Amino acid sequence: MKGTIARRNFLFSIIGLTLATPVLSQENQTVLVVGASGGTGRFIITMLQERGYEVVPTSRNPERAAATVGGSFNWRRMDLTSRESVDGAVRDVDFVITAHGATEAQGRNDPEQVDWIGTRYLIDVAKSIGVKHYVMISAASAGNPDSPLNERFGNVLIWKGRAEDHLRSSGLPYTIVRGPGLRDNPGGQKPIVLEQGGSGRRLLEREDLATVTVAVLNNEAAMGKTFVARNADDGASIELQEQLQGLLPD
Ligand SMILES: NC(=O)c1ccc[n+]([C@@H]2O[C@H](COP(=O)([O-])OP(=O)(O)OC[C@H]3O[C@@H](n4cnc5c(N)ncnc54)[C@H](OP(=O)(O)O)[C@@H]3O)[C@@H](O)[C@H]2O)c1
Repeated sequence: MKGTIARRNFLFSIIGLTLATPVLSQENQTVLVVGASGGTGRFIITMLQERGYEVVPTSRNPERAAATVGGSFNWRRMDLTSRESVDGAVRDVDFVITAHGATEAQGRNDPEQVDWIGTRYLIDVAKSIGVKHYVMISAASAGNPDSPLNERFGNVLIWKGRAEDHLRSSGLPYTIVRGPGLRDNPGGQKPIVLEQGGSGRRLLEREDLATVTVAVLNNEAAMGKTFVARNADDGASIELQEQLQGLLPD
């Protein structure tokens, strides 16, 4: 992990993904990260910790998450399929980042339960406790009823689209980062492109998705915006902050 972090820091510097963004001081600022045990979530919590945030990762199974992710984190138990569980876990935090997703096409942990109903609980509780910025990882094509992915995986894009709409109308300061097809090669190797619109087969390394998600947190240039993050095969890297500034608000 140390090697990964050193490599990433080096890559940050050479490709200009400077995180010296106009953010408020992050000292004593607490971030709840949902889906922290996942492929993207585990990068997110490490990056946040490196930047000085207090990190509260959540999992349905904190013991298993602590053992598989490692590091030094105080895991909080939360299952989005239970309103009581969400009410109990979402407290005393300044920010929320979500990187969770349903685990089955149909059943107790399907997209309707997790990506819509559970996410709606989470947004509502975040609103009630005055969360300052809610960053949601969603999916490219969220809200598109015609994508074949809906048939393959429990109408996932329809439910993610509903959750996006709920967040946009919640009154919370928010940012929605839409991921395309995610992969597990090292991040920082290819340019990251942030775009609104666009289509076709797009890919992004999970580590790069985490970089974007952490960069937008508490960042004025990202507030009220929805966009897709993807890797480009070649071309120049443009600083994330410059790209964020060029995106349109919803
Ligand atoms: N996979 C793709 O190609 C793709 C494409 C576009 C967008 N996305 C989105 O990108 C994000 C990151 O994806 P990923 O593939 O890196 O994630 P992942 O590895 O599949 O991790 C999913 C996470 O969701 C959590 N989770 C599942 N059910 C839950 C529940 N009922 N309550 C609370 N947490 C629950 C799991 O935590 P525990 O098991 O520890 O509870 C796990 O940490 C997700 O929002 C995903 O929908 C993925």
